[in-house]
Order: sequence, then C-alpha cells, then structure tokens
Amino acid sequence: MIIAIDGPAGAGKSTIARMIAQKLGFLYIDTGAMYRALTLKVLEGKISPEDSNRIIESAKSSRIDLRNNPDGSLRVFLDNKDVTAQIREPFVTKSVSLIAKIRGVREVMSELQRKLGKQGSAVLDGRDIGTVVFPDADKKFYLDANFKERVNRRLKELKELGQEVTFADIETDLSNRDTMDSKREFAPLKKAEDAVYIDTTDMTIEEVVDTVLKKISDNG
Ligand code: DC
Repeated sequence: MIIAIDGPAGAGKSTIARMIAQKLGFLYIDTGAMYRALTLKVLEGKISPEDSNRIIESAKSSRIDLRNNPDGSLRVFLDNKDVTAQIREPFVTKSVSLIAKIRGVREVMSELQRKLGKQGSAVLDGRDIGTVVFPDADKKFYLDANFKERVNRRLKELKELGQEVTFADIETDLSNRDTMDSKREFAPLKKAEDAVYIDTTDMTIEEVVDTVLKKISDNG
C-alpha cells in the first residue's frame, strides 16, 4: 500500500507521515530529505545552482539512502555519510527549492522514490507524491495550515534542533519556498484532485493522525 502526503513546508507532513508509518509498520520515505541531501552535495561541491547539467549528473551519481530507526525517526545518508543534521541547516534550506525545480533532478529523485516505495508498503511525504511520483497511490492526503501557524511550527522544530533562528527568518524562508515550490514549471506543489484536504491549523498532532488513520481504514 502506498500513502501519499503532500503539502507546504511546516504543515506537519513529516511528523504525521512518520507516526502513521510507525503505527502501520510501513516504511517512511521523506522525499524532501532527498532533495536536501543533493542540495548539500551541490553546495559543498561549489557547483552553481544555475549549472543544471552538472547538478543532474551529480544527482545521477549520488547515493542517497534513508534508514528508518525502530523509534520511527529517519537517518539520511549521502554517499554513505550520515547527513541527517546537516541537511536541516539554513544554508541548505535556503537553496533546496532552486535545486528541486530542475526537471532532470526531479526525474532522478522520482525514480528513486518509486523504487523505494515499491519495496513494500510505504508512507511518502513531499510536494508531488500524489500528483507525479505515485499518481495511483492507495490513499492521498494534502496537509495544510495557515502561514503563521506553519512559521511557528517550523520555528519550534528548528529551535529543538539547536538552531538560532527568528520568526522573521522562518517567515522569509517559508514564503520564498511556498512561492518557488508552487510556481515552478515541473511537478509544482499542488493538491491532487483525489487527495483528502486537511487544514491542521487548529488540530493537535494526535487529531491529525487519527483523522488520517480513519481515512486509511475507510474503504474507498
Ligand atoms: O519537506 P522539506 O521542507 O524538507 O522539503 C525541502 C524542499 O524540497 C522543498 O522546499 C521543495 C523540495 N521538495 C520537492 O520539490 N518535492 C518533494 N517531493 C519534496 C520536497
């Protein structure tokens, strides 16, 4: 079974996807982490974000692995090196949408995501899972929340990771990424027609998890 969870940054996708995967015993695939890992490689390799050809080559020759820990958390490996913490650094976040808009990069990543998803039952979160990567997913969700709430959630998350960020920093980042991710030419952020839309602004994590689980167990 494939469960697709899409939506903008800060809508709670990764927390919910991880919890659903753990409860159902499915694999959790954080597709944003894959774009982040490649972005880290591009920045560390001093490749210009404009140099699409080199970036696509880099995507093809990179090895990106996601390993699920028994507690539901995920570790991300780039060319066999653990980059779990680094990919959440602001310098990566700032550039990831530029890398993710390149068509050839999306093709490589989508292929990898399909391969991983087909290994067994999986929950994938991202921007284009229900529209492009798995248009035939068994269940599709689009998680959303109002802008201020998304900024606050991301702020809390990054502070917990020990990052020194302000509300204004996150506001700028989310607003830029919202625009780039939803206006790009290939596989933009968009609700699939058959996705269940959930506005999580005034919901607790448990309420969202319960709503999603209920929809998954409903037939049809
Ligand atoms: O979910 P996230 O914030 O970690 O994702 C980082 C970026 O990666 C996001 O701003 C856009 C891109 N992304 C994408 O284009 N397609 C996906 N399926 C997942 C993420």
